[in-house]
Amino acid sequence: MPLDIIIGTQWGDEGKGRITDLLAAQANIVARYSGGDNAGHTITIGADVFKLHLIPSGIVHENVVCLIGNGVVMNPAVVLREMDALTARGVDVSPARLKISTNTHLVTPAHIAIDRASERLKGSDAIGTTQRGIGPAYTDKAARSGLRASLLADPEALADAMYDHIAAKNTVLRHLYSAEPLDAEAVAVEYLAYARRLAPHLTDGSLLLHNALRNGDRILAEGAQGTMLDIDHGTYPFVTSSAPTASGALVGLGLGPSVVGRVVGVAKAFSSRVGGGPFATELDGDEAHRLRGSGANPWDEYGTTTGRPRRVGWLDLVVLRYAARINGLTELVLTKLDILSGLPEIPVCVAYRYQGRRLDHLPGDPAILAQCMPVYVNLPGWKTEIGDVRRMRDLPDAAQGYINFVADVVETPVRMVSVGPARSHTVYA
Ligand code: GDP
Ligand code: IMO
Ligand code: MG
Repeated sequence: MPLDIIIGTQWGDEGKGRITDLLAAQANIVARYSGGDNAGHTITIGADVFKLHLIPSGIVHENVVCLIGNGVVMNPAVVLREMDALTARGVDVSPARLKISTNTHLVTPAHIAIDRASERLKGSDAIGTTQRGIGPAYTDKAARSGLRASLLADPEALADAMYDHIAAKNTVLRHLYSAEPLDAEAVAVEYLAYARRLAPHLTDGSLLLHNALRNGDRILAEGAQGTMLDIDHGTYPFVTSSAPTASGALVGLGLGPSVVGRVVGVAKAFSSRVGGGPFATELDGDEAHRLRGSGANPWDEYGTTTGRPRRVGWLDLVVLRYAARINGLTELVLTKLDILSGLPEIPVCVAYRYQGRRLDHLPGDPAILAQCMPVYVNLPGWKTEIGDVRRMRDLPDAAQGYINFVADVVETPVRMVSVGPARSHTVYA
């Protein structure tokens, strides 16, 4: 089928950008369907490292058209900054290659100010958001008071809408959060300048994709965030404000389920999480340092967007089984297996223990999840480095054992494994 979907199966940062980049070689269109610049996707091509937040990871393939879908909330300043950085590196981001759905919602400085103020007010209950205005932008969308990208094509309407939006948010900032108000006129002028540059990129995203499918084109939907950050299915309230799961791809692009082919779940060979919320297999001390790294390598576990050290822990197969169910995964890709090389044995969580009982499924109540203890199976480790391996059968027996164990417990085939950040660091089944 012509629409393949890439999904984060954990809490984000599984390596979705890197896998999108690999699969984009066979795609005609790569489309982002949810989230905003809370995402940070890293692609490594030779010595070049690209860090993308809003522009789909397919952009580095010159024959691929990229779409920012209607399910995304887009900060125009950020997308323009990314476009300029890509142009400076010789990547074409002209309107022929980079399209923006007219129904995409805009992130404004007021959303960012409210995100910050709201986190401050929550104190120790803060979610630990990326402070990119994501929650407030989706709040406005749901409240039917958001600003859509279509406004970028109508300067007069944009100026009026932005002025009214900032004026209304200033009331909230002043009276609810005791925060500084914004200059409505200055923001309106700022957005008019963004509009001049972005208007030529606007398109009816759903129609573009529909026509592409009719022409026999292949579309790759690039996920942001991860299943456990899904507003409905994640560890609420410690989630993002969108649906990063497979059904979110359909809503966020304007397509129906009959066009879906592969649903590729990207899973890191261990777990990481940025921000607050339950994390059953979380480690601290030396073991955490071993998985996180010192920050010296580009792939060490520090946020691409915020630079925060990520919380890390062992692989949680209760979470992966859940992700397989929620997304209807057809296959798994396991990333960063190389990071586990050298460990004498590797604990993998297969169930939880809660008040003396064993739980085989993720509990729906986050308060219960927060009290769950991991039940581990210790799998044998492998000593050798695996960065140069390209075929499954050439991996050390213990590494093959680890992959097979994951596939068995999650009841989903592992089609690809990555053993380093570069395109070539890929092991195919
Ligand atoms: P995303 O948000 O899911 O796209 O993931 P990020 O880009 O935020 O984080 C993944 C990080 O791991 C990036 O720095 C990647 O270059 C790096 N990476 C991806 N796959 C591998 C791998 O197999 N091994 C190593 N060492 N690094 C990897
Ligand atoms: P990628 O696409 C990891 C987390 C934040 C916070 C919570 C809510 O790179 O995998 P938000 O700013 O969305 O309101 O924050 O979600 N979060 C991510 N964590 N990777 C991401 O994106 C994330 N996007 C949001 O840290 O806990
Ligand atoms: Mg990331």
